[in-house]
Amino acid sequence: MTDTATAAPVRTANPRVEQLLVDRWSPRSFDESAIPDEDLAVIFEAAGLAASAYNYQPWRFLYAKRGDANWDRFLSILIPFNASWVKDASVLIYIVSDTQMGEGENAKPAHAHSFDAGAAWANMALQATALGYHAHGMVGLDFDAARTELQVPDRFRIEAAVAIGKKDVPERLPEGLREREVPSTRKPVSEVAFAGNFK
Ligand SMILES: Cc1cc2nc3c(=O)[nH]c(=O)nc-3n(C[C@H](O)[C@H](O)[C@H](O)COP(=O)(O)O)c2cc1C
Repeated sequence: MTDTATAAPVRTANPRVEQLLVDRWSPRSFDESAIPDEDLAVIFEAAGLAASAYNYQPWRFLYAKRGDANWDRFLSILIPFNASWVKDASVLIYIVSDTQMGEGENAKPAHAHSFDAGAAWANMALQATALGYHAHGMVGLDFDAARTELQVPDRFRIEAAVAIGKKDVPERLPEGLREREVPSTRKPVSEVAFAGNFK
């Protein structure tokens, strides 16, 4: 289906699905604009409203805004393919999660740390969408470099990176990436939700 005004492809879903969820998708063409700190603060606050086991809030967000003192260093951690388009995004965020609950002798493994950080990422992406941005998650990065470069303590797991920015036209991208600049499809519910045992 296409948008009648722009002819851009749009995603469709059961009309009872919340529109914000339908509108979130992961483009790669960003317009180099700056993101105000106030918007970023809203996005991080929304991310932190995610539920987490024991309300432990294991997520941490390390970020650099386009052109700031950390930007080139943050960008260099991505695989070259991702860096080639993230360079035009407004902010690059690394999400890490605390694998332990408690301190010292009381520290215990936190079973749900990645699950909870994933919930925070979902909130982040949806809030960004609601504010007129797009968010694009990434695991195409050098995890060893991220740990060293960002000085992430051993007990934290580096989960993923996220680029957020204002979407630009597909023509901005090199050929080959342009046709991928559309919302993707999904497996039918019957393939992922089972009444009863695993099928
Ligand atoms: C954790 C995670 C890692 C991803 N890694 C990459 C990546 O390294 N490079 C990339 O171009 N897209 C990456 N993606 C984007 C996915 O390919 C995209 O979300 C998926 O195809 C669904 O499309 P949609 O987000 O537009 O609905 C990643 C997404 C997530 C959530």
